[in-house]
Amino acid sequence: MATRIVTLPADGIGPEILAPAVDILKRFVADVEIEEHVFGGASIDAHGTALTDETLAAAKSADAVLLAAVGGPKWDTTDPNRPRPEQGLLGLRKGLQLYSNLRPVRPLPALYDASPLRREIIEGTDLLVVRELTGGIYFGEKTRTQDSASDLNIYSREEIERIARSAFQAARTKVTSVDKANVLEVSRLWREVVIDVHQREFSHIPLEHVLVDNAAMQLVSNPTSFDVIVTDNMFGDILSDEAAMLTGSIGMLPSASVGNPDGPGLFEPVHGSAPDIAGQGIANPLAMFLSTAMLLRHGLNLDSEASTLESAVDQALDNGLRTRDLGGTASTAEATQAVLAAL
Ligand code: IPM
Ligand code: MG
Repeated sequence: MATRIVTLPADGIGPEILAPAVDILKRFVADVEIEEHVFGGASIDAHGTALTDETLAAAKSADAVLLAAVGGPKWDTTDPNRPRPEQGLLGLRKGLQLYSNLRPVRPLPALYDASPLRREIIEGTDLLVVRELTGGIYFGEKTRTQDSASDLNIYSREEIERIARSAFQAARTKVTSVDKANVLEVSRLWREVVIDVHQREFSHIPLEHVLVDNAAMQLVSNPTSFDVIVTDNMFGDILSDEAAMLTGSIGMLPSASVGNPDGPGLFEPVHGSAPDIAGQGIANPLAMFLSTAMLLRHGLNLDSEASTLESAVDQALDNGLRTRDLGGTASTAEATQAVLAAL
């Protein structure tokens, strides 16, 4: 049976980085059916909503979902009654029940000098942010009046248990649980539950707890001290953008959203739709390619194919490939060529 991949190019640079990723994917998966669907701002324009029932249904029945990027100034609004592209992304994550978001941060030696941080600091960094993706303040009840607003940050024991397990399963040397337990009640529950899961199931793996403000500092002062960072939806969002700069550019960071054993995973770069450079053919497609590698590994169980693709990206950078965000001049097409040549 053919492997069915739903692709969601969505907005901004999305279509121009997704197209070459699909070409690359086809080289690795022989019998593949690609089904493209409208999503995000593009879907708002076409259907008035960022995620249609049809797109969600197609995604649910796919073997994996490959997403480029959503959003743009065209749909920016503070009016709670108007649709936003991001609602599509949140609806898709929730609808596919993908509570575990894996964001690996592994600066490549070839890019050590592309980071704003000194080489001595980033050298040897190899960490994974495990971000809880379907709970917390992103999904808690919202209220709004003319003069006040609130977002409820709520987690259940069960939600914390399952993301803690994801983190311990991914750990090689240590898990760092990041919270704000000195202030937030929800963080105190988070910490208790992580300790419970650790004691019951993973006591052989070292566990530490770090407050989020301190974690933000250590990420740039001592990133090699981390292995797996597990944290809630909001802290994970912020810390993963910060961690991206260790690799030189947010254009390098892939992600996998998983956790539903009965449905597909969602694979997408961490970066946004970069509307400022959209349509110029100059976007860095490497995070999109590395997300495709994560799709091969976590979505289709093609581990060696994933490694081959990742090595090709490394190799292309070693050979001097630099897009603009990395201080070079390579276009999206040239970057794609360089990776294909390495393949
Ligand atoms: C991310 C993005 C999204 C998030 C936005 C686009 C809703 O920043 O995937 O990190 O906040 O989760
Ligand atoms: Mg983010």
